[in-house]
Amino acid sequence: MNTAGLGMSTRAVHGPVVRRAPRSPITNPIFQSSTFLNQVGSTDEVLYTRYGNNPNQVEIAQRLAAMEGADSAIFLASGMGATALAHLAVLQPGDHLLATSWIYGGTRTLFSREFQRLGIDVTFVDPSTPREWRRRMRKSTRALFVETPTNPVARVLDLEPLANLCGVNGMTLIVDSTFASPVNFRPLEHGADIVIHSATKYLNGHSDVIAGAVVSSTDVIEEVRRLLKSWGQAIDPHAAWLVERGMKTLAVRMARHNSNALALAQAVSEHPKVGAVTYPGLETHPDHDLAREVLDGYGGIVGIQVRGGARAAGRVLRRLRLARHAPSLGGVETLVSEPRVTSHAGLSVKERRAQGVPDGFIRVSVGIEDVDDVIADFMRALSAS
Ligand SMILES: Cc1ncc(COP(=O)(O)O)c(C=O)c1O
Repeated sequence: MNTAGLGMSTRAVHGPVVRRAPRSPITNPIFQSSTFLNQVGSTDEVLYTRYGNNPNQVEIAQRLAAMEGADSAIFLASGMGATALAHLAVLQPGDHLLATSWIYGGTRTLFSREFQRLGIDVTFVDPSTPREWRRRMRKSTRALFVETPTNPVARVLDLEPLANLCGVNGMTLIVDSTFASPVNFRPLEHGADIVIHSATKYLNGHSDVIAGAVVSSTDVIEEVRRLLKSWGQAIDPHAAWLVERGMKTLAVRMARHNSNALALAQAVSEHPKVGAVTYPGLETHPDHDLAREVLDGYGGIVGIQVRGGARAAGRVLRRLRLARHAPSLGGVETLVSEPRVTSHAGLSVKERRAQGVPDGFIRVSVGIEDVDDVIADFMRALSAS
């Protein structure tokens, strides 16, 4: 059944709505099988879990495509696997990629080390000067990559001018939409060609799976599948099943992440030990107006600048009781981390400052607990430090 017209929660819960035979299970079983029976002499598609066509893999791909409003999608074994293959599906040796400099550190390493080795040149552009995109374009530029909202300061980029630039110059616009999830933002509606997710984060939402996804036209997804067969980053059926279970509650989880994060951001802004709070739902955020226009929710990531630098931030982190110190995000539990030593460890102090991540910056992935408890945890840790 065509899911167009159905609400986001309905798509999240049901995925593709199909009629089921009496006595079918309500939840899909796990097809923990590497291979499937083949009729002798048949030329039908071979089902093999490395090919990404195991029923558990197909189910979540269709569910995500329905939520993003896309023709097709495919899940992989990690967000990095998804980023790598999404790019390799559209880039060849000798091609040039324009990438924003406001990106996850792992993606930066992939581009600057591995892509260079493959003969794909990458230029990092500071998106705060939009003119730079055109200036840095070459005859060989085939794609433009951005992350929005960004990690960890949740800068929101305007995709429409970038989509126009790509459209006029025959380039592919690739967007890492991990922080938003399709509930808060759907890049294809704003002119993107390919969407990437680290499904490890909100899509799964329970901090128990590593997974990634690519969403695009059928042609691009079939090219990703072709690469997947050779490069081998298929998602395991059990992990795919867990992602399916997680995705069913995505819409309600995101609503709670959005409201909890806004409440925490507002509360800690008032604390005297806090120098600044970055959250796109606050009027003080540089992209607040754009965020209000293009996002359906401001997301679950709050940046807290603790006065007194890294040592002061360390004291706060040690005093938190509910919020756990761990380098991931998007799960039901509140997690805190210091980008200085995790996602942004590869950058110089100057580069980190330029991205709004000075020493003393804490990233909070606000969970879905009772928000009063989360706020009390931070207020007490800040006051006691
Ligand atoms: C924005 C973003 N993209 C991609 C990734 C990579 O995802 P994974 O850890 O699932 O490989 C991460 C990981 O933190 C991320 O934050």
